[in-house]
Amino acid sequence: MNTIIKKDFPFFNNNDIVYLDSAATSQKPQIVLDKMQEYYTQYCANTHRGEHELGDKATTEFENSRDYIAKFIGANTDELVFTKGTTEAINFVASSFVKSRFTKVFLSELEHHSNIVPWQLQGLEIVVLPLDKDLNINLEEYEKLLRLNPKSFVSITHVSNSFGIINPIKKLINIAHKYECLILIDGAQALAHLRIDVKDLDADFYAVSAHKAYGPTGIGALYGKYALLESMSPYQGGGSMITEVSFKKSSYLKPPLRFEAGTQAIAEVIGFKAALKYLFTLKQTQKEEDILLKYAKEKLQGLSRIQLYTQAENVLGNISFNIKGVHHNDIGILLSKQSIMLRTGHHCAMPIMKKLGIKGTIRLSFALYNTKEDINKTIQAIQKAIHLLTKNKGDKSASK
Ligand code: ALA
Repeated sequence: MNTIIKKDFPFFNNNDIVYLDSAATSQKPQIVLDKMQEYYTQYCANTHRGEHELGDKATTEFENSRDYIAKFIGANTDELVFTKGTTEAINFVASSFVKSRFTKVFLSELEHHSNIVPWQLQGLEIVVLPLDKDLNINLEEYEKLLRLNPKSFVSITHVSNSFGIINPIKKLINIAHKYECLILIDGAQALAHLRIDVKDLDADFYAVSAHKAYGPTGIGALYGKYALLESMSPYQGGGSMITEVSFKKSSYLKPPLRFEAGTQAIAEVIGFKAALKYLFTLKQTQKEEDILLKYAKEKLQGLSRIQLYTQAENVLGNISFNIKGVHHNDIGILLSKQSIMLRTGHHCAMPIMKKLGIKGTIRLSFALYNTKEDINKTIQAIQKAIHLLTKNKGDKSASK
């Protein structure tokens, strides 16, 4: 599976690296690099300013990209604000919307630091939604908490970056609205894997990053219902977001341009569109990704002293585990020496690690270019690492 797709990614051309860290960032297909280079070499100019032809071309490509990306997630074009990524999108909502309207925010125990710290920075109280033993949000508790706290703000990840749990966000959004709450969904890990339709979900805000979905770093987007965006003050001030400026007072454009001060990441926006177009042409189904995940899980379960943290079936492209008696970072270092790149540690999700009583895990995270061969090599490398790390402890059993 997917050796054909690997050919689209120049990164894999001249090496034997097994890349299993796509939840951190994905590799980029040639088409994304080409489109970005085309901008820099053929029509490099600033957008939304000036009258020259190049500027017009850059603006057209930029706005066409907005249109494509918005439609890709089911949004209207004027509901998509470009940000540096999911993190900036959440910081933007926290500072320009939630801070002035709410005193607390409801988060799950599974959240990434980027869906915890922005709320703290704005002085909001965090109320934690508990998880069950398989790391799923306890829906009864969730509903109970919102019933007791109507008209609150909720912010939840679509897919957990550390354990791959897919949250039932349609249900979570529904329950939130039942109690007149507003809800933001952190879609950083979802965009590359799931079909997202913000209108069908009825999300109030939905945040994404390009770089985890085969696009460039430094660009992402916030979807917001237009009425909500319209009620928000600018996050930053500068060129291109105003209608009029005087030393006494300035007035602002309508969303989304109101929130895009200064020169934008033009090449990255164009690359973002190219990445989503690429993703669309592959017509990759979640089913195929599930096959690889199942395969990896079965193989890992064959290792002795393996410790998995969830038996949930609603998991996507991600397995997080530990080997009892071995430090996760040691495995990461030894695998890297065997050209296998995966992430170890707390995955920017310290609260869930703390709840599980661990400092971190070893995480395999997949993308379309991963193959069963990658998994086989990884399992062998893990066995070798366990052997090396335990041989002096008089325990040579690397696998069952
Ligand atoms: N959020 C990214 C990860 O999970 C960086 O690795």
